[in-house]
Amino acid sequence: MPAAATELQAAERGRVLGLIGDHRANWSLQQEFYLDPAIFALERELWFPRQWVIVAHASEVPEKGRYIVRKLFDEEIIVVRFGDGENDIAAYYNVCTHRGSRICTKDGRGRLLVCPYHAWSFRLTGELQTKQDLPEGVDPETLGLHKVPTRAFGGLVLCGLDRANLPDIEPVAAGLTDRLREHGVDNARIVVRKSYPTMANWKLVLENFLECYHCRPAHPEYFRVNGHVKVTAMRDAGQAAVWQEEVDAWHSVIGDAEFNKGVWEPGDLDTMPFAMHRKPIGSGRKTLSDDGGPVSRLMGGRTDYDGGESGFRIGRLSFLSAPNDYLAMFQMIPRSVNETDVVITWLVDRDADVDVEAEKISWMWDVTTVQDKIITEDNAAGIASRAYRPGPYTPLESQTAFFIETYLSQMKALITGERAATASTEWEAPMQLFASPKAACPAPRH
Ligand code: FES
Ligand SMILES: [Fe+2]
Repeated sequence: MPAAATELQAAERGRVLGLIGDHRANWSLQQEFYLDPAIFALERELWFPRQWVIVAHASEVPEKGRYIVRKLFDEEIIVVRFGDGENDIAAYYNVCTHRGSRICTKDGRGRLLVCPYHAWSFRLTGELQTKQDLPEGVDPETLGLHKVPTRAFGGLVLCGLDRANLPDIEPVAAGLTDRLREHGVDNARIVVRKSYPTMANWKLVLENFLECYHCRPAHPEYFRVNGHVKVTAMRDAGQAAVWQEEVDAWHSVIGDAEFNKGVWEPGDLDTMPFAMHRKPIGSGRKTLSDDGGPVSRLMGGRTDYDGGESGFRIGRLSFLSAPNDYLAMFQMIPRSVNETDVVITWLVDRDADVDVEAEKISWMWDVTTVQDKIITEDNAAGIASRAYRPGPYTPLESQTAFFIETYLSQMKALITGERAATASTEWEAPMQLFASPKAACPAPRH
């Protein structure tokens, strides 16, 4: 890099470190973190490459040769099933090694991946197949597709941008595969997928997703249906006691083994965070639907409804909600400094009736996410004003505050290269989320 560019980069990083230094703990971020393209560029360089994210459900590439074109942050990738094994799924940057053309423009199927420009073809395992036109001395082995780190487990396909920077995903696979199977994630099919492009910085989208303080004013349907809002949306001792009674009653019905299922790994820069927690939906509701009644076939080999909902967190940008008879898979995809795609995929058991009603299955999270898009875009619009100043997170926004503190300490560590202890080492699982205190125990470190 020329000296002038290096100086510019150092000055830029110094400016961001200054902003991090000025941050007031447990208050929202300064305006620049939500609006400044230079900070987004720094995240793209330093933070995004460290994140594993869900890019697909395994059923989207059901047999060898099937491939799909998906987004990974602001990159386009090809996800392909290259073999007959359950987890034989790979991903490649959608960039030809000849002169750089996109290779696949839509989902498809084939024995080879063929570039439309000059018809170079690549094996499903990425190697260049076309060799006859190469100039002498060029080794075809060096012209395989650019691999994207990929790991499939429990029905999910996860990718990350850069092998050198990604944390080990094996503890997550080890910690969650059985739990995902118990919820039928590996045996599911997609009913509907919707995208909610949100004109807001990705951190605002996450800040909103991680707290339920807004659930009372912003989500009348969600507030009506979910019992946990008695402790996650309000600070009211009476309501908390009512919720505790409901949790205790649920515990006595489902038994200790189910009740204590759960895992919490807060993660740090080198450890991928993941969690699963269970709680009752409440008020005798069987599933997360408008009237509480079933919407599809029971999943994961269940023989009866227990009225619980399991929540999965996989890394920092992917989530899964699992009531007894459907799944909602969430992908938060940062696109630019002020654009984030929220993609929700609803799945049911593979053997569920073909005419399951997508509207009933998607009702809860669709109505809620349409509302979230509006409030988050309003949040972004207000932050763009000259009048914006950081404001305090309340105790009901503790997970949001934790995310922000973690983000800042990680950005600082990545800029300076110094691995100070991150905020996450002091973080305990948010008790409101876990019906069972045992469920909040940290996952064993591997
Ligand atoms: S750019 Fe792909 S074959 Fe030429
Ligand atoms: Fe919300």
